[in-house]
Amino acid sequence: PRSKGWWLDELFQYQGFWMSSFPIRGSMLINDHFKPRPTDIIVATSPKCGTTWLRALVFSIINRASFDFNDHPLRKLNPQELVLLFEGHIHKDGSTSFLDELPSPRLLSTHIPYSLFPKRMTDDTSACRFVYICRDPKDVLVSKWHFSNKLRPKEVPPLSLEEAFDLFCKGVSHYGPFWDHVLGYWKASVESPKKVLFLTYEDVKKEPLGCVRKVAEFLGVPFSQEEENRKTVEEIVKLCSFESLSNLDVNKSVAKRSERPVSNSDFFRKGEVGDWVNHLSPEMVEKMNQITEQKLQGIGYNFH
Ligand code: A3P
Repeated sequence: PRSKGWWLDELFQYQGFWMSSFPIRGSMLINDHFKPRPTDIIVATSPKCGTTWLRALVFSIINRASFDFNDHPLRKLNPQELVLLFEGHIHKDGSTSFLDELPSPRLLSTHIPYSLFPKRMTDDTSACRFVYICRDPKDVLVSKWHFSNKLRPKEVPPLSLEEAFDLFCKGVSHYGPFWDHVLGYWKASVESPKKVLFLTYEDVKKEPLGCVRKVAEFLGVPFSQEEENRKTVEEIVKLCSFESLSNLDVNKSVAKRSERPVSNSDFFRKGEVGDWVNHLSPEMVEKMNQITEQKLQGIGYNFH
């Protein structure tokens, strides 16, 4: 269906997921051409789950020895510029020369569902690692709805929350159904805990220091006692916090609405857990919780 706002892109159902032509093509090219390395790190998310935050955290964890926190690339660049979108950097002619030339460890970001990656990446335990972040779907919907209406061209009428809710619950949103996206990475994290680390936005908010240590251990670069004494973990959490990133000039500036009308500031709104209480009716909450309970049974994480 052709819908509105950020939901305006034409979405196709591809291997069980609703996606626009750009990531479908990207995923096909990855399948055909990408040569994984054991050191590759892929930050994976469903949109609006905390991609920007996780990109910043992983970038600063793996590069912590290279930069001074006061003069850090994250003080000058948006995390999107530091951690490239995987599906967006496979060349149009199918060659991966750009990615092939990147030094190891390569750090990339993706929204592609786990099941769409080639077996040479997912079955080979030494091929690459994924760090996934999931979020309460009620907050994801609210965040997506705001984002969608913000990016909407002037001539397109706003999408009502009711319409967005309906589409989201039916699974019709970028990389939806949301719950299937989560399940793919969740199952992989249970089956291959050394390959896929599963985090939640809510946990990172609640226990940022513990989560940063967990990511570093998963990536094989745990914090030394000396780093702990120097409060490196605290520095990383502070540097990547919503307050710090959203207040940078580079992230405040609003780009002209052009062909790809996303500006850095669009990735920062409230950065809170539970903003859905300000938007969703009790009926919506009940329906969404029911779907989540049904679809994510056994996942061991209660969002509400
Ligand atoms: P809200 O719209 O609820 O505020 P993504 O990066 O996947 O597009 O997700 C965007 C969401 O993450 C937005 O949520 C945004 O405000 C929030 N976010 C961005 N940077 C963050 C940070 N450093 N800490 C916490 N939340 C952040």
